[in-house]
Amino acid sequence: MNGFCRRWATRWPMFNKLCIIGVGLIGGSIARAARLQGLASTIVGFGRGQDLQNLQTARQIGVIDEFHLDIAAAVQDADCIIIATPVAGIESVLALLKPFWSSVAVYTDVGSTKGNVLAAALAVFGKVPDNFVPAHPIAGAEQSGVLAAVDDLFARRRLIITPVDSTDTEAQRKVQRFWQGLGSSVSIMSAQHHDSVLAATSHLPHVLAFALVDMLGHKDEQSEIFKYAAGGFKDFTRIASSDPTMWTDICAANKQAILPLIKELKGELDKIHRMLENDDSQQLFTTFSYANRARQRFLNQIETTMSKSQTFQVQPGGKLQGETRVPGDKSMSHRSIMLGSLAEGVTHVTGFLEAEDALATLQAFRDMGVDIEGPVNGCVTIHGVGKQGLKAPKNELYLGNSGTSMRLLSGLLAGQSFNSVLTGDKSLSGRPMKRVTDPLSQMGADIKTTEQGTAPLHITGQAGRLTGIDYTMPIASAQVKSCLLLAGMYAQGETRVTEPAPTRDHTERMLSGFCYPVKREGSAVTITADGSLTAMDIDVPSDISSAAFFLVGASIAPGSDLLLKHVGINPTRTGVISILRLMGANIEVLNERVVGGEPVADLHVVYSPLKGIDIPEELVPLAIDEFPVLFVAAACAEGQTRLSGAEELRVKESDRIQVMADGLQILGVDAQPTIDGMVINGGKIGGGTVNSHGDHRIAMSFSIAGLRAGAPITILDCANVNTSFPEFKDLVTALGLTLVAVEE
Ligand code: S3P
Repeated sequence: MNGFCRRWATRWPMFNKLCIIGVGLIGGSIARAARLQGLASTIVGFGRGQDLQNLQTARQIGVIDEFHLDIAAAVQDADCIIIATPVAGIESVLALLKPFWSSVAVYTDVGSTKGNVLAAALAVFGKVPDNFVPAHPIAGAEQSGVLAAVDDLFARRRLIITPVDSTDTEAQRKVQRFWQGLGSSVSIMSAQHHDSVLAATSHLPHVLAFALVDMLGHKDEQSEIFKYAAGGFKDFTRIASSDPTMWTDICAANKQAILPLIKELKGELDKIHRMLENDDSQQLFTTFSYANRARQRFLNQIETTMSKSQTFQVQPGGKLQGETRVPGDKSMSHRSIMLGSLAEGVTHVTGFLEAEDALATLQAFRDMGVDIEGPVNGCVTIHGVGKQGLKAPKNELYLGNSGTSMRLLSGLLAGQSFNSVLTGDKSLSGRPMKRVTDPLSQMGADIKTTEQGTAPLHITGQAGRLTGIDYTMPIASAQVKSCLLLAGMYAQGETRVTEPAPTRDHTERMLSGFCYPVKREGSAVTITADGSLTAMDIDVPSDISSAAFFLVGASIAPGSDLLLKHVGINPTRTGVISILRLMGANIEVLNERVVGGEPVADLHVVYSPLKGIDIPEELVPLAIDEFPVLFVAAACAEGQTRLSGAEELRVKESDRIQVMADGLQILGVDAQPTIDGMVINGGKIGGGTVNSHGDHRIAMSFSIAGLRAGAPITILDCANVNTSFPEFKDLVTALGLTLVAVEE
């Protein structure tokens, strides 16, 4: 194993000795959850003299194993120290820790404001120590003290990490994994950004709630008011029951961000005051309606990003037998909505993938004024608005987990006459967007990303001002190619995209199907703005990326015999078949035909012992989404399988090299990650609990591993299977795997 791999491999428990400074509601809940999840072998608490009784209680009820009033003893040999004291005390705690600061431990905190935490570190150390990773769990309760601590305070809650430039990436990764282990969804941002966001979403509402109750409470007729105070008052002022000391500290620490917001809010109240004074009920209605819709939008977003987590429990063994048709191709489903919307006339789509990713694209076009009926049983009717017919969306376009939606839309929207903002979930917001925004800006596009080159994307439409470019892609990416072709439809002159290796060509094929001129010469595709799209009917074949789970499952499980019907076998997508055949799989391609410009076939797969191979690099882009499940095939093969040239896998919905290697190792497989691939020595697959990190293809791949496992496999964080294959659980169980999904 090289140094790179060793550094990233995580072993459980993560920490030998976890030291919590301040064992109250938050500190106690961290301890309880860390114990439950097996994240630390020993958990110790530290407090000062006045905390003695609380610490004794914490030990008595088993929240901590031991406690110390002496900091030296508390932190001795600890490999993780969490400061869980109120924000005002952070500087004195850091000063207390300074003489015992260990370079091999990881330090973090839970303060609700982060600018002051960094300032405290600067004051004590002269710089923020590299192994101090400031963090803030957005969770709490009105009660305080260790008796109020619970196991699941952080489950499905957000946690924000605010590193500085010098923060050690390994320390940051450990803190991130720790909080993910407690069930939190982790975001990373600067301390300044954190403080301004939290000022608006948390601190200002608390100030308001305290202010309202203070005002009403001091009124003479207070008893009369409170007597009739029903749901509205109770809901609105719930947070005024929070700890006044803590909130005094928070407001003082973050006043720079809170003060301008209070001023803005006063302005808003003045506006409403004037509307009422002037009997301007129309304006009042407009204001209230906007707020009503905006709140619903936020709630929807919260619901989708923090939706219930799902765990798959897979019983070992089984075989796959029978006949099935897996759902429609995701890439083609996205493109059918995009091009159907831009076409003149009505496009009918059948076989459309009714999964979250494709539905995100569908919703985005509805938000831009396109009338789309369905989907009903995979049928969608799109009333095209023509190339210039899209309308400005009223809100930002939320694209969930879907990289294809975001990257393709960025090209399409760059040349519109309106502005737009593209957002996505946590995974999508961490994925690289410069690969599209850089070439688009060469074309004259105006798209702002975060400093890290990630979403949200703020697009200022440049109608009539884009110019075609001749672009050779540094990476083989169909998303980048398609993005530039869509932008090229609105650019002056020719847009020519050359790919370093063949990538999926559904955009080019579908454009031709819609009668839009595209020229293909060798590895280059050229498009201009001269053309229009004519509506057509599209029959989307089954997704070979979804079929791949069954191709591998039937290949590795003795006794399997499976027929997969109507699968798209576009040669830019069939790398999985080529690789499995090289490994010795028995896959027959039957009944080949062309449907709507795309080759389709039935795939017959029968169990066959596999052998390890060196995967030819030229097949990587042709099987880019299938490697998670191909790693499972390699784990079941005799001998060694080596993959290289696939660094792209590190920036998919998760870091698919690391996450698969971690999971396979947990299952006892000799899988060593490399920078751009993996080396797997086939052998036995055991059981255990693996984490899919919200990556749909990883969740499904480990499910398939169950067919050859020696013991049950539990797969965490599987809800995102809905992004590409909601029927997976039902289909795979109907064909012979025992899998249950548990919602939490
Ligand atoms: C896709 C292209 C691929 C693939 C993704 C879908 C598409 O991404 O991984 O799931 O529909 O164009 P890259 O083009 O970035 O490799």
